[in-house]
Amino acid sequence: MPKDFLSVADWSAQELQQMLERAQQLRSLHRAGERLQTLQGRTLAMYFEKPSLRTHVSFEAGMAQLGGQAILLLPEQVGIGTRESVADVALNLSRWVDGIMARTFSHELVEQLAQHATVPVINGLTDLLHPCQAMADLQTMAELIEPRKARLAFLGDGNNVAHSLVLLAAVVGMEIRLATPKNHQPDVHVMRRAGELAAVSGALISWCEDPAEAVAGVDFIYTDTWISMGQEEEAQRRRGIFAAYQVNQELVRRAPDAWLMHCQPAHRGEEITGELLDGPRSLIYEQAENRLHAQKAVLERLMRAPSAAR
Ligand code: NVA
Repeated sequence: MPKDFLSVADWSAQELQQMLERAQQLRSLHRAGERLQTLQGRTLAMYFEKPSLRTHVSFEAGMAQLGGQAILLLPEQVGIGTRESVADVALNLSRWVDGIMARTFSHELVEQLAQHATVPVINGLTDLLHPCQAMADLQTMAELIEPRKARLAFLGDGNNVAHSLVLLAAVVGMEIRLATPKNHQPDVHVMRRAGELAAVSGALISWCEDPAEAVAGVDFIYTDTWISMGQEEEAQRRRGIFAAYQVNQELVRRAPDAWLMHCQPAHRGEEITGELLDGPRSLIYEQAENRLHAQKAVLERLMRAPSAAR
C-alpha cells in the first residue's frame, strides 16, 4: 500500500474500491448521526498555498468527526523554500503530526514533501492533480451507475481536475471522453500513464476538440472553471478560448439523461449556465458532500491506528 495519497494512479482498482465502500459506509453512519472515533488522538497538518473552502472545511471537519484534529498552516508562516527547506519542514512535521495534507501550486512540492516526510502526505490539489476530488466524484457517480459501466465527458480545461478524472477512469475501467481546446489538452505524461492503466482495466479514454461529439449519449457531463487558481490574470483571454465549451441546454440535448458535475467553485454563465448548475440534474452538492466522506476513507486508510475501534 502506498504511504501517501498523491495521485489515484498510485493505487490499485481494488484499493480504490475498498476506499469507495468505506466512504459509502461513513456517509451512512454520519447521516444516521453516528460519530466514529477511528482517528482519536490523531493530528493532520494542513498546508495551503492556494485558497480553499471545500478542502479546508471537509478535512478539518472530517478529522474532528473521527476524533482527531487538524492544524492549519499558511505559507507565509511556514516559508517552505525561503525560511526552511522542504525536507526540514517535512521532517519536523513528521515528528509532531500523523499526516500532512498540502495544496500547492507545484506538484513537485507535494512529491518532495511526501519523499521527506515519514508520515503520510495527501494531495489537496496541485496544478497537476486533484485526487481527493476524483474520489468524491467516484463516490457520487457510483451511487447512480456502476463505475465500469459509466460514460463520463469532461469539457473545458485539461488540467488538474481533468487529469485526476482521467486517471481515476483509467484505474477503475470507466469510459471518459475529454473535450478541450487544442492548446489546453491534458498533459501528455498523464495521458500516457492513463493509457497504460487503461490497458489493464479496459477503460476507454478519448480526447477530441468538439464538445458536442464528446457528450453524445454520456451518463455524466463534467466541467471545471476556465480560470484556475493562479490564472486570474489570464481571465479575459481564457473566457474567449473556452466559450465554445460551455455546458448549456443546447449541448445537453445530445445527452438528455446525463447528470451534470462540477468540482466548484462554479461560475454561472461561464463554464455552465446557472439554469443547469442549479437544475434537477446537477450533482454539485452531492460531490461536495462526498468530499467529506471520501477523504475520511483516505485519512483512515493512511492514518488509522491498527487498534482503533470501528
Ligand atoms: N481547476 C480548478 C479546480 C478547483 C477545485 C483550480 O485549480 O482552481
